[in-house]
Amino acid sequence: MTQVSLLTMKCTLEPAQFAQFMQDKGDIFWWEPGKFWLITSHDYAKQILTSDDFTCDRSSFFISRMPNMDLSLIQDFFAVVSKMMVMSDAPQHTARRRICYDGFTTQTLQNLEPLIKAKIAKQLDQSLTKGQIEIVENLAKIIPSTVLAEFFHIPEQERPAFYEWSNNMTQFFGGASQYRNEDGIEVNQSAANLKHYFTGLIKKRREQPEDDFLSILLKNQQHFGLADEEIVSQAIMMLVAGQVTTTDQLCNNLYTLMTTPGALEMLQRKEADLDDALDELNRLDPAVTFTFRVTKQDTFIGEQAIKAGDVIFISNHAVNRDPRVFSEPNQCILTRPNNRHLSYGFGGHYCLGAKLARIEMRYCLAGLLERFPDLHLMPDAAPKRKHHSLAFSGFEHLHLGFTPAL
Ligand code: HEM
Repeated sequence: MTQVSLLTMKCTLEPAQFAQFMQDKGDIFWWEPGKFWLITSHDYAKQILTSDDFTCDRSSFFISRMPNMDLSLIQDFFAVVSKMMVMSDAPQHTARRRICYDGFTTQTLQNLEPLIKAKIAKQLDQSLTKGQIEIVENLAKIIPSTVLAEFFHIPEQERPAFYEWSNNMTQFFGGASQYRNEDGIEVNQSAANLKHYFTGLIKKRREQPEDDFLSILLKNQQHFGLADEEIVSQAIMMLVAGQVTTTDQLCNNLYTLMTTPGALEMLQRKEADLDDALDELNRLDPAVTFTFRVTKQDTFIGEQAIKAGDVIFISNHAVNRDPRVFSEPNQCILTRPNNRHLSYGFGGHYCLGAKLARIEMRYCLAGLLERFPDLHLMPDAAPKRKHHSLAFSGFEHLHLGFTPAL
């Protein structure tokens, strides 16, 4: 029997079915078509994400997935990615992460809130009289990209190139590429362009600091002992991690909300806190569908012996529906207390931008609820999911309808 790929399974099944398909095989099992271990247990996932037996340096795995690629074509790409915090272990990871903390303080994020609210209002108001809005292009892509550009104080006229390079990097990094030589040449050029761009920006911000993210990194550079190249990699890290994830999660959340009977009405009646509701929606349909690690030394997960070099994939669909942690795991309970989903990861690599993403998604949801009381899926424009790769899933398009304003 030919074995179906896990990506095909993810593309053909709804989140609850996909989680069940994996859970039926056990807490941990060997997935032969992908040649990796698969984790469905919430406890095992936490163990792996906090253990020194596993590394975040996944370059060997990436390279094994590119058998036809001439690796000399992607040297700039690897140079940038290999220094990112998400690919590093302590002690490099600690410095690369901590240097960014000042960029995500409550105050810094609060300063961004008026801009986020205004941009959302502008986007939604454009649709008020139309009676429908296509969420992906008109809201979900625009909000995170505007926020990231503001984060770095990128001037308006430089933004299109900046978006194009970062989107190229994100798609390639996230596994949404066929890894042909021409793809390699393109992503390498984007990595080189971004590196060049940020190197120039470092020079400018050193001469004249602003209150942007890069200036914050430079202020702390000496204290954390990072080279300029590491600063550039953390800056690019924010683009790779912060754009597509937020776009996708916003759409996944809205789709769950629209397809769960009574959920939207409950939010409109203010019977659930928006942040609790968002957590529940994130749990049920995560945008980051798998996190993965490589085993550093022979070890055990539960009773299962694991060899050095083995790759471990953690299914967020499955661990977020582990019945030992979540009662009624397949129900959407917008008031679920103490929601311990792993959609933003866990442990030392827990998503640094989670607070920012939550702010963006909360205001989007609040804006939609406020303006469009009878929001619904458009019956004649079926939503289309987009599975970029095994690790990331969102929507290609998502049309919502409402009564137009006169
Ligand atoms: C809803 C949107 C988002 C989701 C679902 C998400 C999810 C995740 C997940 C699962 C991880 C852990 C990866 C791992 O352990 O291998 C992660 C890490 C990370 N995320 Fe996010 N993320 C989102 C938005 C953002 C935003 C907006 C930013 C920044 C602007 C960001 C920056 C980061 C960074 C820097 C890391 C690496 C942390 C480290 O390695 O220490 N993320 N994210």
